[in-house]
Amino acid sequence: MTAVGMPARLAEAAIAVRAAVREESIPPRLDEATYLRTQRMYEAHSDQRVRIAQWLCDRLPAPPSGGRLRVLSIGCGDGTLDVALAATLVERGKRLDYVGIEPSAAAGETFLERLGELPDVNPTLVNSILEDAVLDGWFDLVVAIHSLYYVRDLPGQLRRLIGGVRAGGSLIVMNAPLLGLNQLVEALAPAGDGTSLTYSDEVSDILDGLGCVARRERIDAALDVSPCRDLRSDVGRDILQFLTHADLDAVSPRFHQALVDYLRAIAFVPGGTLVPHPVDVFVVSNVA
Ligand SMILES: C[S@@+](CC[C@H](N)C(=O)[O-])C[C@H]1O[C@@H](n2cnc3c(N)ncnc32)[C@H](O)[C@@H]1O
Repeated sequence: MTAVGMPARLAEAAIAVRAAVREESIPPRLDEATYLRTQRMYEAHSDQRVRIAQWLCDRLPAPPSGGRLRVLSIGCGDGTLDVALAATLVERGKRLDYVGIEPSAAAGETFLERLGELPDVNPTLVNSILEDAVLDGWFDLVVAIHSLYYVRDLPGQLRRLIGGVRAGGSLIVMNAPLLGLNQLVEALAPAGDGTSLTYSDEVSDILDGLGCVARRERIDAALDVSPCRDLRSDVGRDILQFLTHADLDAVSPRFHQALVDYLRAIAFVPGGTLVPHPVDVFVVSNVA
């Protein structure tokens, strides 16, 4: 979050957030249960997931020929987007062995249930982080949607994933750029806890460094932050907590207001309620 080159209103809002972070103790990160609960509320107020599902339907590279495909989804969560991807492939006449890697057992169970309801899909779950997962055999399609932010040694893990893609197959990574909304996450990240998130420019650099030719696209989307304006709104608090990744229960009304003012400043129309919520897509094809 830098004030250099920003419009005055945004610079002022960014400075107020930084001052609040400096003057009050930095809020702790969300626990897993709250993260999952607030994620649902956040997603219900954004059209990003519908647009990602649409992209998977319209823009997915042609998979290798043959009736049976192996698909790997990294950090599949509860499988909402995997259902959209799997349905697209099944409609194209494919039968799928679909592996999800997911550290949250609760989310992974839902992934298994959802995928298991689709015809011609055989789902399995690896309940672990990517770094600890054993990847056996080849995959026709590997997807990582909003899941590489925390992966350790990402260059090493991406090299491993790319090495597991069958000739003619693809790796698809979707990661957020470090713009308005995510600059707020960075401003609230507990200093010095060793965690740093990987945004899309870094993914791009890593893929370049690995010698991959990646097609890069941006999916534009919008998040409706209107409930956040009411400091007493539970819905607003949930959205604000997910978008900052921070437990805001103990922050002062002034801190809370600084966050709301920042959201107003990054809105498409300054002062409005719709804020940009883009995601960048990287497609690495024919990598084997
Ligand atoms: C924002 S969610 C996205 C879930 C899903 N891909 C989607 O778009 O609906 C991020 C997911 O990545 C998982 N995750 C976090 N760190 C991970 C790691 N090191 N390896 C694999 N998955 C991870 C989380 O548990 C969470 O389910």
